[in-house]
This record gives sequence, structure tokens and C-alpha cells, in this order.
Amino acid sequence: MPTIKEILQTMDYGPAPEGTKEAQAWLDQHGRRFGLFIDNAWSDAGATFATSNPADGAELAQVTQATDDDVERAVAAARRAQPGWVALGGHGRARIMYALSRLLQKHARLFAVLETLDNGKTIRETRDADLPLAARHFYHHAGWAQLQSEEFADYRAVGVVGQIVPWNFPLLMLAWKIAPALAAGNTVVFKPAEYTPLTALLFAEICQRAGVPAGVVNIVTGDGRVGEAIVNHPGIDKIAFTGSTEVGRLIRKATAGSAKKLSLELGGKSPFIVFDDADLDAAVEGLVDSIWFNQGQVCCAGSRLLVQESVYERFIGKVKARMQTLRVGSPLDKSNDIGALVDPVQQQRIHDLVESSRAEGCEVWQPDVELSSSGSWYLPTLITGASTSAAVAQAEIFGPVLVAMSFRTPGEAVQLANNTVYGLAACVWSESISLALDVVPQIKAGVVWINTANQFDAACGFGGYKESGYGREGGKEGMYEYLTPLAEDARPAAPLVAAKASPKAAGPDSPFAVDRTAKLYIGGKQARPDGAYSRAINGAGGDFLADIGEGSRKDIRNAVEAAHKAAGWTKATAHNRAQVLYYIAENLAIRADEFAQRIAQQTGAQDAAREVAASIERLFYWAAWADKYDGAAHQPPMHGITVALNEPVGVIGIVCPNENPLLGFISLVAPALALGNRVVAVPSEQHPLSAIDLYQVLDTSDLPGGALNIVTGSSDELARTLATHGDIDAVWRHDGSLEGCAEVERLSAESLKRTWTGGAKGRDWFDPKQAGGRVVLQHASQVKNVWIPYGV
Ligand code: NAI
Repeated sequence: MPTIKEILQTMDYGPAPEGTKEAQAWLDQHGRRFGLFIDNAWSDAGATFATSNPADGAELAQVTQATDDDVERAVAAARRAQPGWVALGGHGRARIMYALSRLLQKHARLFAVLETLDNGKTIRETRDADLPLAARHFYHHAGWAQLQSEEFADYRAVGVVGQIVPWNFPLLMLAWKIAPALAAGNTVVFKPAEYTPLTALLFAEICQRAGVPAGVVNIVTGDGRVGEAIVNHPGIDKIAFTGSTEVGRLIRKATAGSAKKLSLELGGKSPFIVFDDADLDAAVEGLVDSIWFNQGQVCCAGSRLLVQESVYERFIGKVKARMQTLRVGSPLDKSNDIGALVDPVQQQRIHDLVESSRAEGCEVWQPDVELSSSGSWYLPTLITGASTSAAVAQAEIFGPVLVAMSFRTPGEAVQLANNTVYGLAACVWSESISLALDVVPQIKAGVVWINTANQFDAACGFGGYKESGYGREGGKEGMYEYLTPLAEDARPAAPLVAAKASPKAAGPDSPFAVDRTAKLYIGGKQARPDGAYSRAINGAGGDFLADIGEGSRKDIRNAVEAAHKAAGWTKATAHNRAQVLYYIAENLAIRADEFAQRIAQQTGAQDAAREVAASIERLFYWAAWADKYDGAAHQPPMHGITVALNEPVGVIGIVCPNENPLLGFISLVAPALALGNRVVAVPSEQHPLSAIDLYQVLDTSDLPGGALNIVTGSSDELARTLATHGDIDAVWRHDGSLEGCAEVERLSAESLKRTWTGGAKGRDWFDPKQAGGRVVLQHASQVKNVWIPYGV
């Protein structure tokens, strides 16, 4: 008698096609030609392009390629609408957003079928993942609109937001972008990807029905040129982009110096790590969700499989067996796992990459499955034998292609996991919670799933480290991306000039009385500048005060190296870091008079003693925060928790302001140190001596060598070096130089460093709202969301 297993193996699925009648009728109703949705009205279709069904190549509709004038009209409509949208209040916006969620749910079937037709992804995914998550996003953010006045009392909406999304999750990315923007009181100009514009156009109709006021949501369709017009439009206050790292770089360069807020969600090459104690069968199912979800066209796809050597062969065997059962075919068939790729262009790209690996000697394995002759398809693929530097191991393939490698120890797993320019996501599979949670903080990625994969929820932030971009979508951290602190509006138009008194010459017993050549401070030691040049620093009265070292590219390199070596500072407990900052404050207090005198000598400030007192208080302030900037434990709709950890950014280069040479320096350096970053600081170019005098204070305050390095010299030149350095994670510039800040932003694009620049405006460093608060903590940290299911 055959066993149940044998019977099951002989059974086959019958076709279970989803009907397309309603979706086709909707397209017909529009004459299969779409204009743009601007100011709550449809424009006539202008020059158009076709959008097609990737599963059979059939044209679905003609869609308008928006012109610069169209973008102009959309931005103007959004600008007109924005004050009214804010005036509606949190509750008013919440009601409309709630209506949007309800309408998405009511028309979920139509949206799901339309998405499958336009994108090629399976109906199972659009129906069970994209639609419920999109609706959930609007519900969740309706809640933030309702709570805005309470939870974000010190913030206002950014204004008009330009949003550009890719084709892999057309409606879901729309929800991720539009929901938080509207909740916060912004109005939007939204551009869907050229391959997949249809669900955004259907969403426009939903906006009309939900009573979204005219101009609040504007949808312009077209290719990258429309995206560029949005990015470059001066009437836009923020750009939110999801897409390729290459375009992310272009956008960073294009917006440099424009004061536009920017969030970038870019590519990935995420590791899927399987330890030898993992539940291997569960891990195989997780892997299916991780790399074959949406044909692998997912920014956080687990495209690099890393398996512990002792179970490698067994695991690969299980993966191949499972791949053989994956059903590839019509996306509209409810029992298919893998649908069509979005476009033949994408198919060719994947093909070329896979063939290059075959030519390099890798083994390429695909299951024995027949593909349809029309449309864009690619078989699930497993590549083994690739070197860590091979193109398939490094490039984002964005297709159903998995590259497998083995590792021996957890340390090696972490090393391989981090061996990429990206840092979007990772999966860790182990039955040992201790091992998994030990590995998580070592992985440089914005999302880590333990014993699960590709889970998303509106309450949990999502976004990358390194070249996967910056900013978060979802969660409270995602809301801040669409808000501006009121304290920013209070900033003075230019750096403040201290009220002057006549400078006093240093008394004979002052340690500053003797002229000297001050050195740099690198790795906890005073260091001569590499170039052996120095520059004279004069006091407020024009008298010579001291020579300081002229720091160069080589000095910055040494400082960055020292900062990297000081990893112990990042690993130290927050309590320890707070202790060190308190100690610096205590030692500064002992020498308060000398420091006040030095400030007065340099700037001529009347209230130099006040600056020293404020600096001591600021050190206390950031020491206080060191062990209190906690993350959060979210409860997404999963049996488990998602832990949001605030991690340090890494090594931060900081160019300090000229005014308030002590307070400005401490206000920027102390929060970075408090959260466990290591710092390369460039003190005030005009008045660097206050920072140099700090060496002695630092030496007696237990700050480990290399945690803070100080390089004096030209702000422009040193900022340029910091911004182009490959091993620095973020650059802050606050010296009031408009062009200097723009240059830092432009140069940071190469390795997609995070930046925090002050532009030409000043900042009242005495004001704790302008120089402190959550905003600074956010610049000094990045959120990692760790998904921990229970009972699996
Ligand atoms: P893309 O980054 O070119 O397109 C994404 C969006 O940006 C689209 O709406 C496009 O019209 C727009 N765009 C293009 N050029 C622009 C510009 N200069 N300024 C402003 N907007 C612009 O991605 P594409 O060409 O669709 O895919 C190419 C590759 O990028 C994929 O094979 C994949 O490797 C990667 N990709 C990664 C995504 C991710 O989420 N990580 C998403 C989409 C693509």
C-alpha cells in the first residue's frame, strides 16, 4: 500500500486562476489611457508610454509621461493645499486616513489583481502581503495623526514632500511613503515607477472618495526624468526615495546644499545565516520567503546564504529538494509561488550576472521546471563555489538567485555577513538565543530577523546602514522623517557674534601665558602635524596667541585609524561612558577660570565664564542621556517582539562652529561620544585653542585614547577629507559655511555617509532646544530593528 507521503507526491495541483474581470473593466472604464492626478483632478493624457503585463507581455494601458510643467503644477497644488491640511488638525487627518484604509480594504481584491497584472508578482503575495500591509500602514499612521499634538508637540510638518518609488512593491511603497507624510501634515507629489503605475492611479481614485482635500496627494507618472524634476524642484522640502543605490547617489548629489530633507532606502545584499544548531527545515522555509518572495526582487532579500560548515552539505541538499517543489508560473494562479519578473530588461540583467558566475567556474543549479515561452521569467537559482569577491556575491542581483557559502565560526559568519557595501537586513537562524543575540549587534544592518524572514509591520521601522541608505520608514522613527523640530525655525539667520569686551592679556602665572605650538590630539596622544606646518592664531585684539598644527589628509587618516582602534569605547557600557563625560565636566570645572580667560582672549566675549558654565552643564546633559536613550519593544502582529535598538553610527567626523569655541565643540562632540561613537573633531578654525586646551582635561578624565581625536587646521580642507574618507560613517558640519556644507553633502554621496549640516544659519549654542534634544540623539544613532518570534 502506498504511504501518505507517496500519495501526496503523486497528487498535483489543479489550476486555480484568479479572475481579472473587474480589473480589466476598471482599465476599460478609463479607456486604457491615464492622465495625471493633480489638485484632485485628472489631466488629459499627454505623451504616453505603455505599461504591460510581464507574464504575457500584453499591453494593459497607456500612461502619461509627465513634463516639467506638470511637476510644476503638482508642486504648486501641494503647496497651496499644505496649510489647510495642517489646519484640519490631527483628528481631521486621522479620519481621512482611516477612510483611506477602509477603502483599501474594501477594494483589496481589485488592487491585488491590478498589482499582479502590472507587476507580475503572484496573487498570493499581492492578496496576502501587499494589500493587508498597505492598509495596516494607513491605519497605523491615522493613529500617529491623531496623537501628533501629544507625541510630536515640538515639531511641525516639513511641508511639500516629493516621493519616488520603485516597481517591486508599487502599492506597498506608496503606503510606506504617503501614510507618514500625510499623518504629519505634509502634502505630497508622488511618482510611481514607470513599469508599475497602475495601482497608484487607482489609489488616486480612492483619495477622491475618502475626501482627501484637493492638492494633498498628487500623482505624476513617468520615468526617471520626472523623478529628476521632482528632486530638483525648489518648491519641495523633502525627498523620500526608494530604489537603486546608484540613483540614491545621484539624488544625494542633486539635493546637496538645497536644505531639502532626504531619506534613502536603497539596495541590499542581505546575509541569511544558518548556524549548525538551527531548525534546518524551518530555515529552509524561511529561506524560501527570504529569497524567492517576489521573485527575489526585494531590497532586503536574503540573497547570500551563509551556512555553518558542519551542516552545509545537508542544508544545501534540503534547499535543492525544496526548490524542486517551487511552483513557477502564471502570477494569477493562486497556488503558484513564483511569478514573472517585472520586465525583460530585468531578466537580461539577471541572466548576465548568473552567466558571469558560471564563466568564473561557479556551480549554477536550477530545478527542473518548464517556463512559459512568453513573458519575463527566471528560474529559482542556487549558485555555489563563488568567491567572496565575485560579482554575484557582491552585486544586488534583484532576482530569484541565491549565492551560498559556508563558514566555520560565529566570528567568521559575522565577517562574511558584513563583507558588503550594503547593510539593509540579515537573518540569523539558531536555536540558541544566546548565540543569536550575540551575533545581532555585530551585524551592520538596519533589520535583523531571528528565526524568521521578511516580516514587516507599520509599527516597526525599516531602513539601512552603510550604502543601503538612511532614514527609517515605519514606527515612530519613520514619523520623524516627515517632521521638522520647531527649534530649527528659531535658529538665527547667521552665526551669532558674542558681545565683546576688551580682551585681557594672559597674566604671568596663567599656563596660557607662554606662547607655544599646539599639537594635534590623535589616539590619546599629542601628535605633530604630518606636514610639520603650523598657523598663527591671533586673539580678539589682534595679538598673537599661539601657533597651531596645520592638519592634513594624512593626519585625518591617522585620526580615523585611531578611532577605529578605539572600538572599546563603543563596547563600553552606557554607564561607563556617562561616568567619563561627568569626569570631563568635573575636571573642566576645576579649571573654569582658565578656560574662560582663554575664550575671552580668542573671541573677546564678555560672557566667557557663562560659556564655560554652559559647557559643563552640556557635558552633564549628554552624560545624563548616555544610559537613557533607550530603544523600544514593539508588538507587531506576530507571536513575538520586535526590539528597536539605538546603535551608534560608528566613526563621526565633526567640523565645529567658530563662535563659542568651547560650547560649540562640546555640544557636538559630547552627544556623539555619549552614544558610543568615536569622533574625529575639527575645532573652530578661527578659535581652536579652547579645544586644544581640553587635551589636558581629557587626559585626566579616563577617556580612552582614540575615542576622541582632534585635528586643527582649515575647516574646508579637513571637511573635504572627512567627507571623502571611505572609513567614516557620518560627517557633521556646523561652521556656518553654506558652500562647505553643500560640499560635504555632495562628497558624502560616494559612500552614502550620513550628514548633519547647519548651512549658513547659526545656532544659539546656549539654547538647549537648538543644541540638544532628541534630534541630536537621532543624528548620533541609527535604529536596528530585531525581530524575535517566540515558540518557533
Ligand atoms: P531605479 O533606482 O532606477 O528606479 C527607482 C525609481 O527612481 C523609479 O521610479 C525611477 O523612475 C526613478 N528614477 C530613476 N532615475 C532617477 C533620477 N535620476 N532621479 C530621480 N528618480 C529617478 O531602479 P530601476 O532602474 O527600476 O532598477 C534597476 C536596479 O536597481 C534593479 O535591478 C535593482 O538592482 C535595483 N533596485 C533596487 C531597489 C531596492 O528597493 N533596493 C528597487 C528598485 C531597483
